[in-house]
Amino acid sequence: MNVLILGSGGREHAFAWKLSQSKKLSKLFIAPGNAGTAQCGTNLDISVNDFPGIRTCVLEQKIDLVVVGPEDPLVKGIHDFFLADEQLKNIPVIGPQKTGAQLEGSKDFSKQFMQRHKIPTAAYQTFTKDSLQEGLAFLETLKPPYVLKADGLAAGKGVVIPHTLEEAKAELTAMLADAKFGDASRKVVIEEFLQGIELSVFVITDGVSYKLLPSAKDYKRIGDGDTGLNTGGMGAVSPVPFADEAFLAKVENRIVKPTVDGLKKDGIPYAGFIFVGLMNCNGEPSVIEYNCRMGDPETEVVLPRIKSDLLELFDAVGKKKLADYKLEIDTRTTTTVMMVAGGYPGEYEKGKIISGLADVQDAIAFHAGTKTQHGNVVSNGGRVIAFTAFGDSIGEAIRKSYSGAACVKFEGCYYRSDIGQDLLKLETAK
Ligand code: AMP
Ligand code: GLY
Repeated sequence: MNVLILGSGGREHAFAWKLSQSKKLSKLFIAPGNAGTAQCGTNLDISVNDFPGIRTCVLEQKIDLVVVGPEDPLVKGIHDFFLADEQLKNIPVIGPQKTGAQLEGSKDFSKQFMQRHKIPTAAYQTFTKDSLQEGLAFLETLKPPYVLKADGLAAGKGVVIPHTLEEAKAELTAMLADAKFGDASRKVVIEEFLQGIELSVFVITDGVSYKLLPSAKDYKRIGDGDTGLNTGGMGAVSPVPFADEAFLAKVENRIVKPTVDGLKKDGIPYAGFIFVGLMNCNGEPSVIEYNCRMGDPETEVVLPRIKSDLLELFDAVGKKKLADYKLEIDTRTTTTVMMVAGGYPGEYEKGKIISGLADVQDAIAFHAGTKTQHGNVVSNGGRVIAFTAFGDSIGEAIRKSYSGAACVKFEGCYYRSDIGQDLLKLETAK
């Protein structure tokens, strides 16, 4: 099969790396891709939101299946675009149609969905500019911290957690009255603050049945000890030691099954990934958010643990035969450490020459933001390279991830030094 992957991050390099090992693969294309994906297939200079450009490429290259990495083209309706086109409509797209992508594209939609299907999540209310006064009054009934979420996509910045009532009121006003996040904050969800430890569970569904993929924990803050600004993710570990069998059974029964059944009941077609962001509140799972795609850097630890053929898995999703697919998972632990550009998640420079990639031995270097320039691999984003390694324990895997990272350098490069340390303590305590 000829496959096209849309995207250019570490997630897409991990997809390309795994798909390139498939017996079923003929040709692999990545649009736009990065210097890492170019080692697994052919990069094409097309943006993920250039639907007509993607159409031309799919027809020219005789693409049999499209894998959509990021949420943006899904929320904008890439899958619907394929279904509406006579020549594209039979080409499977891994990623939901616009309605299903609303699980990520609208916080209000996803909260209503969870409420309708009795899926555990924080209590909430939604407000608009017209109900700002009610929103301010609602804040007065809550205890701090306050959780305010812009309804739409806001490049990962739409969730604000103020610790005082005054800040919360100012934030709500800025979001609704001053359009702080543009159209994305036309509606704001205010919800109860959940106390606990976060983790993510990944599901793939063909709309009929589903498979549970490995769980993972992400490290979102820029600084050691979970300090500083939020990022797209600075590292990840899979599996998550505190997500034991009993906890995962609760997740499956109370969240995953009702989600897939809920989509069916609501008549929402869905072929693709569901990324369930969870809070473990004293052993009870509660949904923080849904995403309609895989996570980054979670994909860099989840996919390496899938032993079975990923293209066969996608093919089964496309044919709605997922129930017959046998998913095999590696029991070992994987960890990834993200090397970022100095200054990220604030301002940072691109175009720094990256050295030492050939010296990485015990880890896989998944490129997140790189490109080739005059024969060099140079940085081309905030998150630059993720170093993934396997181990029989978190300790072993993380040592290898860090020895991989130690080989590679570019001016201003930075990574957290404590990925997995919190879990290591739990693992040792077990
Ligand atoms: P989201 O974009 O919905 O994932 O939210 C970003 C981050 O805000 C999450 O990863 C959590 O750390 C935090 N968060 C979101 N909702 C809640 C909540 N109800 N209680 C506590 N923390 C939350
Ligand atoms: N790492 C979090 C995300 O992909 O949304």
